[in-house]
Amino acid sequence: MKSSKVRLDKLLGSLGYCGRKEVAALLREGIITHTENLPLKSDTKVAHDEILLSGEPLDPPSGMVILMHKPTGLICSHDEGEGRLVYDLLPPRWRMRDPKISTVGRLDKETSGLLLLTDDGTLLHRLTSPRHHVAKIYEATLDRALNGNEAEIFASGTLMLNGEKSPCLPAKLTVIDETHATLEITEGRYHQVRRMFAAVGNHVTALHRSSFGELTLGELKEGEYRIFNNNALNYL
Ligand code: URA
Repeated sequence: MKSSKVRLDKLLGSLGYCGRKEVAALLREGIITHTENLPLKSDTKVAHDEILLSGEPLDPPSGMVILMHKPTGLICSHDEGEGRLVYDLLPPRWRMRDPKISTVGRLDKETSGLLLLTDDGTLLHRLTSPRHHVAKIYEATLDRALNGNEAEIFASGTLMLNGEKSPCLPAKLTVIDETHATLEITEGRYHQVRRMFAAVGNHVTALHRSSFGELTLGELKEGEYRIFNNNALNYL
């Protein structure tokens, strides 16, 4: 799809490169150029793919989805005061993008694995709505040996978590060994997996999300991410 044309200063500002006023200086210095060497001014209407910065294509336009392999120790928050953020793994200028990039739901600080981020507000709203039931698989390491009845309890659709008004939807537990299991859930309640195991008298010591719908981490290492277009998630 051909991107629509917007003022050059607006485009670069929305991608977080620079304030509108700095564009004129970058043009004078020859840092911003047109792919076909057409003359440019701050207010020239341009398409995203016509512009080069230091000879390189621009960052992806809005409507992007980031699939990140979140390491433990990073927080899914925009609040700088809280410690290291998942946004610290992205280029610093992306903090200035408009529309803003946000995580699709959250993983706890001590949970690793597949995290989606997007600047598409409609997609974000859809994927985080309580009515949206996409399957997510978590690998849990447990403090105590499983006692054998957890799969039935989790599958029953009757498990109540403290402070909740409705029971958890049926979830699928697959036992790996006595202290390791995968749990597939279709909701995204606060600390859900840790609280589900707590509700059956266990304690999660390590948690990793390995999939979100059909998306998996593939070869991505901790701290790495890949980017795709929001249209790629239309099926979710
Ligand atoms: N459930 C949890 O307990 N923690 C997460 O980060 C995600 C699901």
